[in-house]
Amino acid sequence: MKKLLIVIFFPLILLVAGLGFCFRSSPGFNVYKISSNLKPAKIWEVRSPPIEEKQNIDQILSQPFMYLGAGAQSYAFVSADGGSVLKFFRMNNLLPKPWQGGEKKQRKMAKLKKTFEAYRIAYEEFKEESGLLLVHLNRSSDLQKKVTLTDRKGETHLVDLDNTVFVLQKRADLIYDHLEKLQGESAALKKALTSLFRLILTRAEKGIADEDHGVRNNFGFSDGNPIQIDIGRIAHDKHAGKHSREELKRVAFKIKAWAEEKMPNAVPLIDDAIIDLLGPEGRFF
Ligand SMILES: Nc1ncnc2c1ncn2[C@@H]1O[C@H](COP(=O)(O)OP(=O)(O)O)[C@@H](O)[C@H]1O
Ligand SMILES: [Mg+2]
Repeated sequence: MKKLLIVIFFPLILLVAGLGFCFRSSPGFNVYKISSNLKPAKIWEVRSPPIEEKQNIDQILSQPFMYLGAGAQSYAFVSADGGSVLKFFRMNNLLPKPWQGGEKKQRKMAKLKKTFEAYRIAYEEFKEESGLLLVHLNRSSDLQKKVTLTDRKGETHLVDLDNTVFVLQKRADLIYDHLEKLQGESAALKKALTSLFRLILTRAEKGIADEDHGVRNNFGFSDGNPIQIDIGRIAHDKHAGKHSREELKRVAFKIKAWAEEKMPNAVPLIDDAIIDLLGPEGRFF
C-alpha cells in the first residue's frame, strides 16, 4: 500500500514542483519568461516599417545581443554593434497565471492590453521621439529570424522572434550620462536640454500622457537626438495637451534637482531653455 502511494504521489510532487519552478520567478532570465501564448489580435497590429528601413532592421536582427537591463515590464538586450536595443516583454509577469481566473485574470489582461497599447501608440504616433524601429506585438511567421541573447550570467539563449513579442529601439545614452559628456560645452548642453524639453511638449500636444514620472532611466540621447526610452506607460489622453506645460515643468524640475547636485553650471541653462519654450511663465517653474 505504502509503495503504491509513493508510485502515485511521487510523480505528482515532481510535476507540482516543476510547474512551481516554471511559473514562480526563478531569478535571472530565461526564454520561458518572455514566451507568449497570446493569439494574434487586430488591436495589436502595427504598420510595417518603411521599405527603406527594412534592410537596416534585418541587419540589426542578424547580430547577437547582450543583456543590458531590465524594468518591471521588459528585459533589454543591446546589439553587438551597440546601436540597438531589443526589448522583450516579461510575459510571465504580464500574463495571468493558468490558475488565476475571474476578476484577477481580467485585471491582469487589462494591464497587459494597456502596456501593448502603449507600445503601439509609440510606434504609430511617437516613432521618431521613441526611437522605435520595430514593434512586434503579435506572434507571426514572416520574420524568420532567431537571435542569440547572452544573459547577465553569460548564458546564451536562442530566441525565435516570430514566436515572441518584442520591440526594437535605437540604443541611447541615458540622459544624465549624455548631459555629463557635454559638461563645459554650454551651447551644446542648452541645445540638448531644449530638444529634450521640446520632446515632452510634443508628446503632450499629440494627446499622449505618461503615467511614468521617472526621468533618469526613461530618457536618453541617440545620435545627439533625445528619445523617450521607456514608453511602457504612455496612453491617449485628450487632456494631455492642456497639461503640456505642467508636464514639462515636472520633468525639468527633476533634471534641475540633479543638476544642482551634479552639474551646477547646467542650472542657468535649464532655466533659460524653459523660458525660451514657455515664455515669462517659465521663470517660476
Ligand atoms: N533604448 C535604450 N537605450 C539604452 N538603454 C536602454 C534602452 N532601453 C532600455 N534600456 C535600459 O534597460 C532598462 C529597462 O528598459 P525599460 O524600457 O525602462 O523597461 P521597463 O518598461 O520594463 O521599465 C532601462 O532602465 C535602461 O537602463
Ligand atoms: Mg523602465
